[in-house]
Amino acid sequence: MLIAITREVSRSVVNCELTHLARAPIDVKRARAQHSQYEAALKRLGLAVLSLPEEPDLADSVFVEDTALVLDECAVILRPGAESRRPETESIVKILAPYRKLFHIEAPAHVDGGDILRVGKQIYVGLSTRSDTNAIEQLQDFLQPYGYEVHAATVTGCLHLKSAVTQVAEDTLLINPKWVDKNNFDGMNFIEIDPSEPYAANAVLIGETIIYPTSFPKTQKKLEEAGIRTVTVDADELAKAEGAMTCCSLIFNG
Ligand code: GLY
Repeated sequence: MLIAITREVSRSVVNCELTHLARAPIDVKRARAQHSQYEAALKRLGLAVLSLPEEPDLADSVFVEDTALVLDECAVILRPGAESRRPETESIVKILAPYRKLFHIEAPAHVDGGDILRVGKQIYVGLSTRSDTNAIEQLQDFLQPYGYEVHAATVTGCLHLKSAVTQVAEDTLLINPKWVDKNNFDGMNFIEIDPSEPYAANAVLIGETIIYPTSFPKTQKKLEEAGIRTVTVDADELAKAEGAMTCCSLIFNG
């Protein structure tokens, strides 16, 4: 069975880290309601949702994806690029330990899960303001014995690699080509986002369905025309915190 780890939106999300967005007021109640819609979508798709309690002092802690990379064979506890986010991993170590052998990214390396895109045995790591080559080398050392190949991909103009590209079918990536070069992803097909929706490249793929935000109707139409089944959720409140669909869960085989 697939498991999704999520975490309640923190009351301090209004103080979140921001890199490419200007600060806008965040309605915590509305963000929580939208986050519940997201958890409900995961459950409707058959996942068991392990929902962690709120971390009142950790503003970005709803974005659990940035704390770990969970594979079938093991998990890597990451070292987020923003110092304010590093304490988020403590509770994630506890919840993952029963499921996986754990590796840990060691200082001074840093990497956010939002920068890690896995497609089968290929692992692409964004070189962004949050992730560095030292972390990529550590990931290579941990994961090569399990048959994974780790590649660096330069990202510009957005926070994370997965702001720019995510998987939407077995052989297809949804991409904003202005933020990451398609040549990083050998052998894949691409659907480009509608250029008027630059933040539209982030989707959660579960089986043959994606969970996708309601905010990008033009790109959604392109996805549906390509035969990709979408389940939509409202996510514009957490988008103000520079978080997207994949950021809000850690999904793995239980
Ligand atoms: N606010 C999400 C992040 O900067 O990590």
